[in-house]
Amino acid sequence: MKIGIVFGTKREGATREIVRWMTDHLQAQGHTVVAAGPADFTSFDCDRYLLGTAVYAFSAKRTGMPGFIRAHRGDLQGTPAGVFIVCGVGEQMISPEDGFLKRSLKNAFLDRQKYLASIVRLLPEPPASTTFFQGYQEPDDRTKIDFPSQQEQVVQWCASQGL
Ligand SMILES: Cc1cc2nc3c(=O)[nH]c(=O)nc-3n(C[C@H](O)[C@H](O)[C@H](O)COP(=O)(O)O)c2cc1C
Repeated sequence: MKIGIVFGTKREGATREIVRWMTDHLQAQGHTVVAAGPADFTSFDCDRYLLGTAVYAFSAKRTGMPGFIRAHRGDLQGTPAGVFIVCGVGEQMISPEDGFLKRSLKNAFLDRQKYLASIVRLLPEPPASTTFFQGYQEPDDRTKIDFPSQQEQVVQWCASQGL
């Protein structure tokens, strides 16, 4: 199959790493992969799409993914699409000792369902599958959260879609 991965990120960070793992897995399964950012993706003859976006400052807007889906609703229509969100979520970040304001801010920051919904509601039809990955803000955090262990989750997510 030809798989199109459209991924929104502003940095050389978690999203690109996840897309590399995805690409490696899909190619090992014999698929052809075209991966590009929202501004550069033009391969609308794919059998499947995987649409992913990082989250910055309470929103997925800055990566260009919402704009991409709006502009290409018609191109995406009728082809199964999986959606993945890369964000800062880690339940351990909210402590019961935090005051009300801090907890509210953290809850808003960590509301990954909201980020997912902001993408899914734009799609021409419900996604084939959705998932979340925990990214890292600083290179140091990469090892603290054991980011590489999510490679297995990437493979499983693809496999769950028959890829
Ligand atoms: C400037 C900045 C703002 C961020 N804002 C949020 C946020 O509002 N909510 C969240 O869950 N994660 C937030 N994060 C965490 C990112 O989603 C996480 O670092 C992710 O790895 C970003 O993708 P990237 O590594 O491809 O850049 C933020 C990260 C940065 C650097």
